[in-house]
Amino acid sequence: MPMTSKGQPMKYRNLISQRVNQISPSGIRRFFDLLASMEGVISLGIGEPDFATPWHIREAAISSIEKGYTMYTSNSGMPELRQELSRYLKNNYNLAYDPDSELVITVGVSEGLDLAMRAILDPGDEVIMPDPCYVSYPSCVILAGGTPIMVPTYQENNFEISPADIESRITSRTKAILIGYPANPTGAVLSQDKLTQIAEVAQRRQLLVISDEIYAKLVYGVEHTCIATLPGMKTSTILLGGFSKAYAMTGWRIGYAAGPRGIIAAMTKIHQYTMLCASIMAQVAAIEALKSGEASTNEMVEEYNRRRLVIVKGFNDIGLPCFEPKGAFYAFPSIKGTGMTSEEFSERLLIEEKVAAVPGSAFGQYGEGYVRCCYATSLADIEEALSRMKRFVAKHQAK
Ligand SMILES: Cc1ncc(COP(=O)(O)O)c(C=O)c1O
Repeated sequence: MPMTSKGQPMKYRNLISQRVNQISPSGIRRFFDLLASMEGVISLGIGEPDFATPWHIREAAISSIEKGYTMYTSNSGMPELRQELSRYLKNNYNLAYDPDSELVITVGVSEGLDLAMRAILDPGDEVIMPDPCYVSYPSCVILAGGTPIMVPTYQENNFEISPADIESRITSRTKAILIGYPANPTGAVLSQDKLTQIAEVAQRRQLLVISDEIYAKLVYGVEHTCIATLPGMKTSTILLGGFSKAYAMTGWRIGYAAGPRGIIAAMTKIHQYTMLCASIMAQVAAIEALKSGEASTNEMVEEYNRRRLVIVKGFNDIGLPCFEPKGAFYAFPSIKGTGMTSEEFSERLLIEEKVAAVPGSAFGQYGEGYVRCCYATSLADIEEALSRMKRFVAKHQAK
């Protein structure tokens, strides 16, 4: 153990910033450290496609490496990628973003979130977001010096965030509303009506909206609306998009932010000093994904939908009431009937039946009583996991 000059053991905690000490390691990662050592586990855990990146996308990157494209790109990203993205956003959202000033290519939506928060927050500024939500949302706000303000969401209301609940939490320090629908961990999609009401609150109270669109393409039988497309909202929305989920490109680490030029310029300033640019190989792959990845995405969505129907019915049949997720690739069944906390449930399920599911409490206080099960895994594994969980629930159903 490293010692101080006085021969005392170094107290690292005192050397770490208060901001970092304020956040805990992700509940998801902690849980997965536990299962890394086990064999024969069926994982409904990590939220990532079980498909490899479509071959034509991999091939585009391989061929660019062969041609020697191995250097830095412009800080904002390759002009060709920004032009392609601008076309994509026009075709998909009917929004015209200027490739030179309103787009920046990021290292995944993860970096986009971090940049957005650091670009807009001063110490003590508040960002309103749903609870439960993606684990990075509150931490990114805290790391940028801000305060996350959580709005409870409930299964009875389809885990939709309520515009009135947002409004009641607005203070003089509120800077932004952060939403991500289709949602992780619930699979909820926000109706256009709810989004219109949220847009109305944001405009009246002069707040920015940050919209995480990473699951925008993964919807089942419903339309997803991006809040930036509602009247007047393009100029007050930071749209964060990515390639990880729709094109099975988690390992490439590539995404983008689209928004008002002043904010994109501020985000790009941070990006140029911290990241410099996203990797050129990933950018070349992203161009190919945008140009001709749609058919592969549609095939994956069809397959996810088959699995979604099986897992949701399966949970309801075995006594874990499950809200029907209309997007992303997560089911979020209630485990309240077992009398266990979500952490106890997940830990015992892993040890007794070797099935990994993430405790809902990892996603916020209002995720307690649920577990997140990712169905981006084979149907055979889903069916085996359900049969193991049936046995587990029968054994532990609260008397
Ligand atoms: C809601 C949400 N946003 C962002 C991310 C991170 O995306 P990326 O791989 O583009 O950094 C994830 C990953 O699970 C997610 O679920």
